[in-house]
Amino acid sequence: MGKIIAISNQKGGVGKTTTSVNLAASLAYYGKKVLLVDMDPQSSATTSLGINRSMLYSSVFQVLMGEKTIEETIVTLDKFKLDVIPATIELATAEIKIAHEDRNYLLFEKLKKVKDQYDYILIDSPPSLGLLTLNALYASDSVLIPVQCQFLAIDGLTQLLNTIRVVQANLKLHNRKFTIEGVLLTMLDRRTKAGWEIVHEVKSYFGEGVFDTIITSNVAAQVAPTYGVPILNYQANAPSAQLYKSLAKEVIRNNGRKKETQYS
Ligand SMILES: Nc1ncnc2c1ncn2[C@@H]1O[C@H](COP(=O)(O)OP(=O)(O)OP(=O)(O)O)[C@@H](O)[C@H]1O
Ligand SMILES: [Mg+2]
Repeated sequence: MGKIIAISNQKGGVGKTTTSVNLAASLAYYGKKVLLVDMDPQSSATTSLGINRSMLYSSVFQVLMGEKTIEETIVTLDKFKLDVIPATIELATAEIKIAHEDRNYLLFEKLKKVKDQYDYILIDSPPSLGLLTLNALYASDSVLIPVQCQFLAIDGLTQLLNTIRVVQANLKLHNRKFTIEGVLLTMLDRRTKAGWEIVHEVKSYFGEGVFDTIITSNVAAQVAPTYGVPILNYQANAPSAQLYKSLAKEVIRNNGRKKETQYS
């Protein structure tokens, strides 16, 4: 049975997409069968993997609308050993077009069909706590929260944690568990005292809930998407490529050891 992990934080630019793409590629590197779902209308994960949006027959939006099946929407990227459900800008209209009662569970219902075919399904979310992020959370077994090592890093996390609590409570009614996979510190500038202070602050707040791996700031992480490839395929020995491999190992190790940690 595959594990579904949402990569979420309503704060923009914290490394959600970079983590989704490179954790997916690293899990695939370790032989796991991985599906990456792009739930962001900006479709950065889609373009970061070199998928040409104008050539797409179907995207996650058509799947949510029931216009196309999930099977006919999956793009197989043999060179990265990854499957992707791409997004296009049309996804931005989902909020107004999808109005029925069970709207938060749409992605969950669609992913059910393919869940067993994968070891991991990762869902990249947009910088909001709206319908698309809620669909990502309600479809998932856990959430991975990237936090950028910068001033005001944990600002706004209370809202995310409150949302996570509501999702947890609602899923419990359906006999489903929902946990925090871990908090991932990203874009640490190792040379600055300020960066390490944020590491300390986040660790003292989340304790065990923080991944041991800290993603440092590294130019290869910025450049790889412009070539439409994960960092591993751009510069395999780049620090960020190695660190995402180390994160993948932690995620694999954590499987089954679900964290029930509560945060106030
Ligand atoms: N380890 C890193 N080192 C250097 N730059 C990075 C690193 N990780 C991400 N970046 C850069 O930071 C920016 C934001 O990253 P990313 O797009 O992954 O964040 P996001 O949370 O998905 O943003 P959004 O909220 O807009 O979806 C991008 O330009 C990305 O290339
Ligand atoms: Mg993004």
